[in-house]
Amino acid sequence: MRFDVITLFPAQFAALTEEGVVARALQRQLAQIHLHTPRDYTTDVHRTVDDRPYGGGPGMVMRYTPLRLAIEAAQAEAAAEGVQSRVAYLSPQGERLDQRQIERISAAPGWVLVAGRYEGVDERLIEDCVDEEWSIGDYVLSGGELAAMVVMDAAIRLLPGVLGHADSARQDSHSSGLLDCPHYTRPETIGDRSVPEVLLSGDHQAIERWRLQQALGRTRQRRPDLLQGRGISEVEQRLLDDYLLEAARSRPRVGSEQSE
Ligand SMILES: C[S@@+](CC[C@H](N)C(=O)[O-])C[C@H]1O[C@@H](n2cnc3c(N)ncnc32)[C@H](O)[C@@H]1O
Repeated sequence: MRFDVITLFPAQFAALTEEGVVARALQRQLAQIHLHTPRDYTTDVHRTVDDRPYGGGPGMVMRYTPLRLAIEAAQAEAAAEGVQSRVAYLSPQGERLDQRQIERISAAPGWVLVAGRYEGVDERLIEDCVDEEWSIGDYVLSGGELAAMVVMDAAIRLLPGVLGHADSARQDSHSSGLLDCPHYTRPETIGDRSVPEVLLSGDHQAIERWRLQQALGRTRQRRPDLLQGRGISEVEQRLLDDYLLEAARSRPRVGSEQSE
């Protein structure tokens, strides 16, 4: 898959492209990231990409023409490689992304991502050139670069062959509508806490069952809204009931009960 990013700050993307999972995916040509700066599409000596807002008020607004030309150039480059890209503007006003949306994004051949700065972009650019608006959460960043990196990281790690183990992404939180189970590594004992015995048993079915039970229990305790949206099978319900019973039994007793 191919991402073309329209950004005033291309150097920021080194955080994604120089080390880690995404960098390795790029080296192995499982994905491509191309950076384009609207400054290259200005005609004045100062290479101006922003201007004061009509109506007054604080901040600056990114100008229409350099952005439009950068988007069109990016789409043309992608098309020359046989990739038809839709355009997404990263925006706190966009649709809030979740794992289902990331799966959809990851399945597409290409995207042009527009990273805004200042007060945002001229509204007419969104009307004319943007197919989708994406938010990474209900808070405001200084620029769309971090948001674009979040989306690219989440989408690229889902591509076949990117993660070492094909099951890794499937087990992750949100991929099956549940949070992930707890994980442990050596040493077996830290202070008075040991790794749950079942994980040392070598019984793969029992381990799978325990992991599913933990995932169900955690989701119920931390994000009950996810379970409501997902639904639950009879087998899962029994596992969850047992988990909750056990959790209630091992919960520390409080107040007068404790001092008895
Ligand atoms: C300071 S923000 C502009 C916010 C804008 N005035 C508003 O309130 O909607 C600058 C840029 O950061 C990006 N941005 C900020 N918060 C974001 C979020 N939650 N998700 C995605 N992009 C975001 C957008 O590209 C935006 O154009």
